[in-house]
Amino acid sequence: MTEEMRRNLMFNPKGDDAVAVRTIIKGTTTGLFNLNATKYPWAKSLYQVMIGNFWVPEKVSGLKDDARMFHSDLTKEEQTAYKGILSFLIFLDSIQTVNLPHFADYITSPEVNLILAIQAYQEAIHSQSYATILESVVDSNERDEIYYFWRTDKTLLERNKYIGQIYQDFVDKPSDATFFRGIVANFLLESVYFYNGFAFFDTLVDHMKMLATGRMIAYIRRDELTHVTIFANIIREIRKEFPHLYDEALIREMMGEAVRQEIEWGKHILGDRIPGINGETTEGYTKWLANNRLAMLNIGPLYPEAVTNPYKYLDRLQDTNGDKGNFFETTVVNYTQSTSMNGSWDF
Ligand SMILES: [Fe+2]
Ligand SMILES: [Fe+2]
Repeated sequence: MTEEMRRNLMFNPKGDDAVAVRTIIKGTTTGLFNLNATKYPWAKSLYQVMIGNFWVPEKVSGLKDDARMFHSDLTKEEQTAYKGILSFLIFLDSIQTVNLPHFADYITSPEVNLILAIQAYQEAIHSQSYATILESVVDSNERDEIYYFWRTDKTLLERNKYIGQIYQDFVDKPSDATFFRGIVANFLLESVYFYNGFAFFDTLVDHMKMLATGRMIAYIRRDELTHVTIFANIIREIRKEFPHLYDEALIREMMGEAVRQEIEWGKHILGDRIPGINGETTEGYTKWLANNRLAMLNIGPLYPEAVTNPYKYLDRLQDTNGDKGNFFETTVVNYTQSTSMNGSWDF
């Protein structure tokens, strides 16, 4: 029988913020953000990185060139993929902005609540960046078509509904089981769902197309990678502090479903006529990525055969960490230094 979960009180004079009794969930905090005493060093490190990653879409130049290129240089298939992928990314960032505070209400560590608030702010900035892209690149009558593509695209609608329902189940009935499932869903969204879309934009940039969009996507990816790390850490702390809530079989099952949906969507929206991308690379990349993400949780590979990244040649534009296998062991600062934003991205 799964236990109900109780939302944090706004102000709880009977609470105790002491590090010795602090837990990631189910603690009794006063409601104060006492950030001088912290229990989770990873949260402190991530705070530094996330603040250091500050950016705003309005400062990214070159969208006028992208607008010209969109109409003159992209093939019909590339235009369709560009719009469809943006539609899914718009959904992901919209739902994260709205969803995160619901989960934060049950986190009982102020240092983790701090970075979840920053994450929600970043997701909102990502939404603004899509608006900035649409404003500049596509015709005005196409904007709503992109926002609401799921109204006519069944594959996208199914994906969006699947993600929305897991979060909704938790909000409607907060319990140990719906919470853990929701946390895993957050991890999958941040760690898998974005990345075939990112690979598409990287491929365009590799062909010297849509460079401003590509640069904005690179900033978004840099943020998303900190979000992956947040949720991987939350899952690891739950495993440590509340082992009875931890469910590795569920993680593997949900990852399998995420991979299935991601491949289906990738093949559907990218097709086989975009240079550098086809059904095979989409499948290989998604499975390879899934193995890597599971490794962050010390879970063995779901697809042992998927040992190579078909987009390795795009590494300079991708979520390169130098040493993927050690992604989680490297310090957060190292990890940031090795992203493309501080490396070879120099347009
Ligand atoms: Fe985002
Ligand atoms: Fe995110």
